[in-house]
Amino acid sequence: MKNNTVFNCSIVDLSKVHTIAGNITVVENGDNIPFEVKRVYYLYDVPAGEERGGHAHYELEQYIVAASGSFDVTLDDGLNKKKFTLNRPNLALHVVPGLWREINNFSSGSITMVLASEIYKEEDYIRNYEDFLKLKKWFL
Ligand code: TYD
Repeated sequence: MKNNTVFNCSIVDLSKVHTIAGNITVVENGDNIPFEVKRVYYLYDVPAGEERGGHAHYELEQYIVAASGSFDVTLDDGLNKKKFTLNRPNLALHVVPGLWREINNFSSGSITMVLASEIYKEEDYIRNYEDFLKLKKWFL
């Protein structure tokens, strides 16, 4: 379990190319993301009032983007909690490994796009909060 805190996470401005026909935002390996992207996934059709996340990762690093609409991401390192509201497609929340996350307050029709540093591995998840706290106690 990585020795990270919520203070290692921040909102990154991905910047945008504006034209009269609309905007484009680019995320490119080696440019505006601090890890190689191996997987992209997105959450959509999330029912009103639903909550996602509820887990931590040993190694996975992510950029979380509100590709459409808005939602809140709450990060927790076992000592501190920090809530981020994502509501612009040109902003990414950089989530480092070793943090518990909850995602809620999804607006209707929102799309949560996640750029991830690894392919899907269930063994990288910690899905029990008590287990997470025990693992973090060694570091915090
Ligand atoms: P999970 O990561 O727990 O969802 P969330 O954090 O958004 O609440 O994944 C939900 C389900 O989807 C789980 O059964 C595993 C599956 N899944 C994959 O098969 N591949 C993936 O890349 C992801 C992210 C999830």
